[in-house]
Amino acid sequence: MKIVVFVSGRGSNLRAILDSRELKGKIEVKAVFSDRENCKAFRIAENNSINTYTLGENPGQTGYKNLSHVLNQLNIELIVLAGFLKLIPDEIVKKYKNKIINLHPALLPSFSGKGMYGIHVHEAVFNSSVKVSGATVHFVDSTYDTGKIIVQKCVDISDVNSPEEIAQRVLKVEHQLLPFVIGKFADKKIEVINNRVVILE
Ligand code: GRF
Repeated sequence: MKIVVFVSGRGSNLRAILDSRELKGKIEVKAVFSDRENCKAFRIAENNSINTYTLGENPGQTGYKNLSHVLNQLNIELIVLAGFLKLIPDEIVKKYKNKIINLHPALLPSFSGKGMYGIHVHEAVFNSSVKVSGATVHFVDSTYDTGKIIVQKCVDISDVNSPEEIAQRVLKVEHQLLPFVIGKFADKKIEVINNRVVILE
């Protein structure tokens, strides 16, 4: 299965995808896109001989227009947002319905929406005093964090002392969950049945 990965920063989830043993031979990362020039994740892509593309700051810019063209040319079957902070343009969301997934570092629909990314999420989680957090992989629609949920995994945070500690625990889960979901897509084991996303055995 041909995929592309969208990133905005560090790229540890991109690395988890590239290093995943269960994905070896199942997927091919054809390109990595970012809204930011020179983000750290680009180094990971380059070290793996994967082409990188910098998009503009706004979906209206030329970079985003070229995006559709590049995705077409590469015959992409799944678009993975792994720490990508911008909205995907409507035109692409429509064209790739149920073929764009995002990773969110909390249990949706809580702690979501514009501005809820990275450490901001974990600060809100910490300050709310919830005892469980986790990671969510969901389909992408045209607003932040509202698409149907594909899979979630919880972590106990009842004993944490800081948002950073939550981030660490959740990141470990993210690194398992995203490759797992991508593998299920490659195996064609993800379907929408009765308005719910189902992972088939
Ligand atoms: C992750 O926590 C991801 O869930 C969030 O942004 C972070 C990206 O981390 N949306 P990385 O760039 O994959 O290391």
